[in-house]
Amino acid sequence: MAQQSLTITDNRTNQTYTLPVENGTIRAMDLRQIKTSPEDFGLMTYDPAFMNTASCRSSITFIDGDRGILRYRGYPIEVLAEHCTYLEVAYLLLFGDLPTEQELKNWVHEITHHTMLHESTRHFMQQFRYNAHPMAMLISTVAALSTVYPESKDIFNPDNRLLQIKRLIAKLPSITALAYRHSLGFPYVYPDNDLNYTENFMNMLWKMVEPKYVATPVLARALDILFILHADHEQNCSANTMRCVGSAHTDPYLTTAAAAGALAGPLHGGANEEVLKMLDEIGSKQNVPAYIKKIKEGHGKLMGFGHRVYKNYDPRAKIIKWTAEQVFEVTGRNPKLDIALELERIALEDDYFVKRKLYPNVDFYSGIIYQAMGFKPEMFTALFAIPRAAGWLAQWQEMLNDTEQKIARPRQVWTGREVRPFVPITKRSLDMART
Ligand code: ACO
Repeated sequence: MAQQSLTITDNRTNQTYTLPVENGTIRAMDLRQIKTSPEDFGLMTYDPAFMNTASCRSSITFIDGDRGILRYRGYPIEVLAEHCTYLEVAYLLLFGDLPTEQELKNWVHEITHHTMLHESTRHFMQQFRYNAHPMAMLISTVAALSTVYPESKDIFNPDNRLLQIKRLIAKLPSITALAYRHSLGFPYVYPDNDLNYTENFMNMLWKMVEPKYVATPVLARALDILFILHADHEQNCSANTMRCVGSAHTDPYLTTAAAAGALAGPLHGGANEEVLKMLDEIGSKQNVPAYIKKIKEGHGKLMGFGHRVYKNYDPRAKIIKWTAEQVFEVTGRNPKLDIALELERIALEDDYFVKRKLYPNVDFYSGIIYQAMGFKPEMFTALFAIPRAAGWLAQWQEMLNDTEQKIARPRQVWTGREVRPFVPITKRSLDMART
C-alpha cells in the first residue's frame, strides 16, 4: 500500500520534509517546521475564503458536490424528505441517530412546550419600526434572548446546553411569526400546543378571528419538507460563523444571532429573496435571453445559481421542484415559475454556465413556493433560519465537544508598511501621510 505521507522539497533551502497524510489532508501546522532560517516564522498556507481548508472533523452532514449528494448522518436527503418530519430530522442532526417512537414523542413534547416567548421579548419586538426587515428583527431578538436566559452561558453543562437548544428550535418560529405580524400591524398569536411544528408556525402567522387555526395539510407538509432541506449544509458561511463565534465560548443565543447574520447576506440565505426580485425585474419569459446576456457581460449574478460546493444539480433544488408542484395544486401556479423554468433551461444550455458548472441552488425555487403560500419575499430568509438552527446547534455542540478545537483565529499575510517614524500633527502634510 502506498505510504500515507507527502514529501516536500523546499527549493529555497533544498531541505526535504515528510508530512503525514490523514483523511486526504495534511495538517497546516506541520508546515511550520519548513523554515529558511531559525528566525523564520515557518511556512503557512494562504487560503482566502477557505477554498481548500478543512477547519474541523465532522460527522453531521456529508456533501459530494460533484455528484450532487447530500446526506445527514448517513441518510440521503431525498429519503429524509420523503419519510420524516422536520423535528425528527432536527433530532437526527443533534443526537446522531433517528429517534425511536418514544424518543420522538418526548422530543416533540419538549419543543412544543418551549414555543412561548417571555412577555418581555414580545414587548421588545413590538418596539421595532413598522417596516423593520424580519431577518434583522429575528437576529436582534435571538441575541436579546441572551438577556432572558443568562444561565445559557454555562455552555459546558450538557443538560443546560440541551435546554437552550430546545428553546432556540422552539422559539424561532414564534419570533419569526411575531416579526411578520408586526410588519402588518396584527396582534401576536400565541402558540397552539395541539398543532405540530409547522402547523403551529402557520397558526402564529395567519390566524385571524377563527377560534382554531386549521392548516392546509399539503402546505404544512410542504413547509416541513422545505425545513428538512434547509436544516444543515456542513461548513457553509453561517455554520462556520456559528463555530467561529462559538469557539470564543459565547452563549448559544449570541452565537446563533451571529450565524443568522451571516445567513442574511445575499450571497448566502438572502439569495432566496434576491431571486424573487430578479424574477420581478425580468418580468416575462421573453426577457430571459436579454437578462442572461447582461449577466454574461458581467452585470450582476444570476441569483439562485451557483454554489461553492455543488458543481452539479443541487439535490435540494430537485426536491423543491417536486414540492412546488404539490403546492401549486392548492395555491394555483405562481406565474414566476415560468420565468424561472425558462431561465434554468437557457442557463443550463449556455456555455458560460456550463463551463463554470453553475446549476440552480436551493434558493432558486424555494422563494417561488414561499410566495405561492402567501409569504412576502422579506420573510424568505427567516424561513431559512428557522430550520437551519438545528444544523447550527449541531455544529456548535460538535465543536464544543471536539478536544482539538480552540478559539478560531486565522493568520494573515502582512502586506502593510514596515515600522515608520511618528510625525507630530503640526508637521504632517498630505504628501507625507501618503508616502
Ligand atoms: N451568476 C453568474 N455567474 C456566476 C454565478 C452566478 N450566480 N455564480 C458564480 N458565477 C461565476 C463567477 O463570476 C466566476 O466566474 P469567473 O471564473 O469568470 O470569474 C465563476 O462563476 C466562479 O464563481 P465564484 O464566485 O468564484 O464561486 P464561489 O464559490 O466563490 O461563489 C456563490 C459561490 C457565492 C454561491 C456564487 O455562485 C453566487 O454568488 N451565486 C449567486 C447567489 C446565490 O444564489 N447564493 C446562494 C448560495 S446557496 C446558499 O447559500 C444557501
